[in-house]
Amino acid sequence: MISLGIESTAHTLGIGIVNEKEILADVRDTLKTEKGKGYLPREMFNHHLEKFNELLFKALDEAKIDLKDIDVIGFSRGMGIPNALRVGAFFARYISLTFNKPLVDVNHGVAHIEIGKWLTNSKDPIIVYLSGGNTQIISLVNKRYRILGETEDIAIGNAIDEVARFLNFEMPGGPKIEELAKKGKKYVEMPYSVKGMNLSFSGIVTYVKKLIKEGKYGLEDIIFSFQETIFSMIVEVSERAMAMLEKNEVLLVGGVAANKRLQEMFEIMCKDRNAELKVVPQKYAADNGVMIAINALLAYKHGYSINIENSSIKRNWRVDEVEIIWI
Ligand code: ATP
Ligand code: FE2
Repeated sequence: MISLGIESTAHTLGIGIVNEKEILADVRDTLKTEKGKGYLPREMFNHHLEKFNELLFKALDEAKIDLKDIDVIGFSRGMGIPNALRVGAFFARYISLTFNKPLVDVNHGVAHIEIGKWLTNSKDPIIVYLSGGNTQIISLVNKRYRILGETEDIAIGNAIDEVARFLNFEMPGGPKIEELAKKGKKYVEMPYSVKGMNLSFSGIVTYVKKLIKEGKYGLEDIIFSFQETIFSMIVEVSERAMAMLEKNEVLLVGGVAANKRLQEMFEIMCKDRNAELKVVPQKYAADNGVMIAINALLAYKHGYSINIENSSIKRNWRVDEVEIIWI
């Protein structure tokens, strides 16, 4: 069975093709921004529209198949930026109609989780989903990915990118912040904001900007301390979730999971608890079409598909709104 997935929730247009065993194609293109600038919805829309054909044929070439060979087509329906979502949804419907292929709507966050499980063979973990738009501690309970804790304001990736933008770095800023943090040595005290299982990042971002402007501490030390603090917050709530639900496995997913220092901190915590750490492979941590293809395949194999009339985008579609029929 062959599944083609289209990812288009934000800055990245991705097309992935998988069968039950392997990844057949993975092509993507991410909108570039000028240094210090964020993404504009209109630019995402234009970018995805312009790139779609090229990426589709590249993916089919890579997989050595034709559109008629696919069994199911999946698209990211939300959550995301409406202008970006609409492009992927439009092309998915068009292909579904033209080639008479079943259509599956995929939740972007759930897809980040499923590709993590697929690639690491993770079974029943506490899931830590850290990305540009989400910061959630999740566990599967009664066929739903329940959100045990989350950010009360901005997402961790967004916090990192905001600091990066302030420093005029290219977007996404995560890798550059990670590099800079490696060079820091001295810890500068930062606001630490954990409330029960929830977190907050906007205060620390404001504080970091203020410290940078003041110039009293070295930039590398500030960024090092910023990273240590926000990652400690994540590790603390994740450990609490593991203890509460008696889980001995953690799965890190989402773009921020690529950070080596974050992985190291989780490794230490897991070793302490005799638990196992699984991390989505770096190549599949950020947005991609493969995760959408995998999720669509899982759902379709369990008898799920939707009608085109009911396939309008869902900008605020949370992971806990999806019934997980395939587990
Ligand atoms: P969502 O999944 O919530 O819709 P998104 O799709 O924008 O958000 P991803 O592509 O999963 O997010 O992740 C992008 C985020 O990951 C960006 O904020 C980026 O800065 C961050 N990121 C990427 N690499 C690293 C890294 N090495 N260290 C820290 N953060 C990183
Ligand atoms: Fe994402």
